[in-house]
This record gives sequence, C-alpha cells and structure tokens, in this order.
Amino acid sequence: MILNKMIKHPTVPTRSETVSEILTDMTLYSQEHFKAEEDLMIKHGYPQFEQHKSQHQSFRIKVTELCMATTHDIEAVPQVLLEYLGQWWVQHILHEDMDYKQFFEEKER
Ligand SMILES: [Fe+2]
Repeated sequence: MILNKMIKHPTVPTRSETVSEILTDMTLYSQEHFKAEEDLMIKHGYPQFEQHKSQHQSFRIKVTELCMATTHDIEAVPQVLLEYLGQWWVQHILHEDMDYKQFFEEKER
C-alpha cells in the first residue's frame, strides 16, 4: 500500500500521480475497512461505537475534500495535509483500533 511507503518515507513526493494514488488508496481502504469495523462493532455492542464511527466519518470527509481539491489543482495539495492523514492513520490503527480488538477478545473469552 502506498500509504505505508509514505509513512516510512515522510517526505512525500508531491507528483500528481503519487498524490492521486495515496488518495485513492485511502478512499478504498476507508470504505472497506471502516465498514467492516463498524459492522463488527454493532454486532458486538461496542460501547465506544459512536465515538469511533465519528472518527471514521471525519477522516472520510477529509479525504473527500482532498480528492476534490486535487481535481482542481493537484499540485496545490499541501504536503502537510497528506502528512496529517498519514499520521491520523497510524494513530488510529495503533490506538483506537487496538481498543476495540481488545474488547472483542475479552468478549470471546
Ligand atoms: Fe477504526
């Protein structure tokens, strides 16, 4: 996944194809991964569901905004925004997603 490359090499090349690839990846991943997670949370009655869902939602909105910006002028996407999204991603997967995984595991015991 291109996002992983981006995280390992924080100096993101701002070439338009790269920006597009990152945003496409983020869109596809967030559609599939967020949906699957949210379904599981509903199924297991995860207490922080609403909070977690709203984090997903703000990420979706940010990515959509960036996608729209790139259709106007792809070179104008500030690197700081891509870095922000990359950091959000790492933070979310390492912390928020770990919390619900632990909750599911405890339920299954
Ligand atoms: Fe999540």
